[in-house]
Amino acid sequence: MKKRNLAVCGIVLGALVSVEALAQSEAQVDDHYYNDRYCTTCHGADGMGSEGISAPRLAGMEEWYLKRQLENFRAGIRGTHEMDLQGREMRPMAMPLTDASIADLLGWIGSWEYKPTQVTLAGDASAGRTLYATCAACHGDAAQGNEALGAPALAGQNDWYLVTQLKNFKSGYRGSHADDKLGAQMAPMAGALADQAAIENVVSYINTLGR
Ligand code: HEC
Ligand code: HEC
Repeated sequence: MKKRNLAVCGIVLGALVSVEALAQSEAQVDDHYYNDRYCTTCHGADGMGSEGISAPRLAGMEEWYLKRQLENFRAGIRGTHEMDLQGREMRPMAMPLTDASIADLLGWIGSWEYKPTQVTLAGDASAGRTLYATCAACHGDAAQGNEALGAPALAGQNDWYLVTQLKNFKSGYRGSHADDKLGAQMAPMAGALADQAAIENVVSYINTLGR
């Protein structure tokens, strides 16, 4: 177990910090108990997401949804399609997690303060409003999410991330695994968005909903 964890730390840190820092942190891992809290390296210091790394906001998002995604990444239900470049970045991060460490991480993430998200898209929000009528059935009128239906909150998430996910669902890079029952419900919804402009318009409308 420890070896695998070290290897994962190596991948994360090796990609992002200097070799010296890696040597130092490996020494720290040797001296201390294993720490799985490396998430902010990619998801941003306040968990607000990092566009450069394509890692979405975690702060303020629903615990039940984050849990399922971590389990899906760990099981290979998400992040295994060869064209799912961002998902394949995340999957190795979830692989060493245990049920106990997932619970620990969710408690930690739940303690992060929600700070407003920056709008980066300039689509046609009024055209997007019409398109969003379909989405509201599952994600809610205010895109607040619906746990009973397994549909997460979209409001407050980074717009660039929502765009990538819609493109991935539409292309079958996400939601096409045989065991991804909820992804399979979402994929045809993204498929019904005609093109990139429609995707940007609907996300621009979601941007107007705030939190
Ligand atoms: C090497 C960078 C990296 C690290 C470290 C990392 N992630 Fe990620 N994570 C990503 C990327 C990139 C995505 C976006 C995947 C996609 O677009 O499908 C992601 C997606 C996610 C998602 C899906 C969110 C959603 O809205 O569907 C969750 C949950 C998540 N990460 C949790 C974590 C946790 C918890 C940790 C720490 C144990 C962590 N991540 C560490 C890069 C990283
Ligand atoms: C039939 C119910 C349903 C409808 C209608 C629906 N969705 Fe979803 N959506 C889901 C479910 C369930 C998930 C979670 C999939 C998973 O667990 O991977 C999801 C996930 C998503 C995600 C990924 C969020 C994240 O954090 O990773 C986006 C973006 C999204 N939906 C946008 C939309 C948009 C835009 C529409 C309208 C065009 C829409 N959805 C219509 C059920 C639905």
